[in-house]
Formats: sequence, C-alpha cells, structure tokens
Amino acid sequence: MLICIPDILSKAEVADFRRIMDATEWEDGRSTAGAQSAMVKRNEQLPPDSETARVLGQRVLSALTKNPLFISAAIPLHIFPPLFNRYAASDGHHFGVHVDNAVRGDRLTGLRIRTDLSVTLFLSEPEDYEGGVLTVEDYYGSHEVKLPAGHLVLYPASSLHLVTPVTRGTRVASFFWLQSMVRDAHARSMIFDLDMAVQALVERLGRDDPETVKLTGIYHNLIRYWADV
Ligand code: NI
Repeated sequence: MLICIPDILSKAEVADFRRIMDATEWEDGRSTAGAQSAMVKRNEQLPPDSETARVLGQRVLSALTKNPLFISAAIPLHIFPPLFNRYAASDGHHFGVHVDNAVRGDRLTGLRIRTDLSVTLFLSEPEDYEGGVLTVEDYYGSHEVKLPAGHLVLYPASSLHLVTPVTRGTRVASFFWLQSMVRDAHARSMIFDLDMAVQALVERLGRDDPETVKLTGIYHNLIRYWADV
C-alpha cells in the first residue's frame, strides 16, 4: 500500500532546506547503494555523515514525529537518519528499477534497522522539473508518484521501484527508511484503516460514544497483539 501524507514541511521550511542544500557540496549517489542498485543509480546525494545532512535530517525527524497521520500509517519503531538526493536533467539523472537493502546500518549512531517502509519527502515542486517520477510496483500494479514540495509518500521497501529520468530542471528530495513496530504490511494496513474509521466516528459521535470507545480499545489491542518493540 502506498500512503501519501501532505504538509510534513511548510513551503517556508522547504525553501529554507533548499537554500542550505544549494550552498553545500554533493557527492555521487552510489556511495550508499548496494551492488545491484549501484548499477542503475545515477544521482547525487548530500554526504550522509555531513553536518548539513545530519542537521536537516534531524529537522525532518522532528516534523515526522509531530505528524499524527505519519505515525498512524507507519507505526515507526526506528527511523533511519534521513538522506537527501537530487536528480539533474543536465546530467541525465535517474534511478533504474531496484529493491532497497533489507537492513541498513548507520555509521555515526550505530543504529541498525530492518527496512519495512521506504519514504520519499519531496523538496521540489512538480512543475519545477520534467520526469523524475517515482514508480512503485505492488500487488495491484505500477503506481506513479510526484507530490508537491513538503509532502511525502510511504511505500513498502520490499517493492520494486524506480525514478524515471529527469529531462528538465532538478528534482530534490529527502529519502529514508523505517522499521515499523508492526512488521506485517497487511496487519499494519488494517490497523491504519481502523484508526482512520475510528477518527471519523469520533468526529461524528464524540470521544465518549460507547461503541467508539470499544473500537478504540480494539485498535490498541491489535497493536498490542502485533507490535514488536
Ligand atoms: Ni530505492
């Protein structure tokens, strides 16, 4: 399941990110790629251990933890320090079809996670570039994602995915992975659907409606049943 979440960063925050990133040295994106993906990856990244990447990554993390929709969809246990990439039309940048590495270790913090979900947080407006479409394959076919700056998409890290060549302008994004407390994607998706339905009922009937209280209890008990923490 793909889940798009709007307004993780405001337009002003995105502009501030871009100002800082534009003044920084970038490196070949293959520095963090596995053997297969290195063959198909053509882009640039902020060096993952650089001060700029760490500071901006921390700002992304604090925005994520304040977003109830993101928490509900991902049920995150560990979030990998966010990375930053850019695809320039002038260099024919693209990222061919691949699956992300199953396990990611961070040199600086020693954090090691199983990558359940991949995340792309868009930092360019769609009209500022041509191409650069994230294409994700799942059981239901192939999905194309290109979101406004400040919005993100969550998708299964186990899926085949690619970024089509950028043919005009520059596509800038943050990307990272997370380990969910709920490993099973189907279970996680049902918990998310239940949470959305409960939130809608709370709106309509209030928080103290007896059946809403029961359903809220079932929501928490399903997490209790499925969560590894
Ligand atoms: Ni990938």
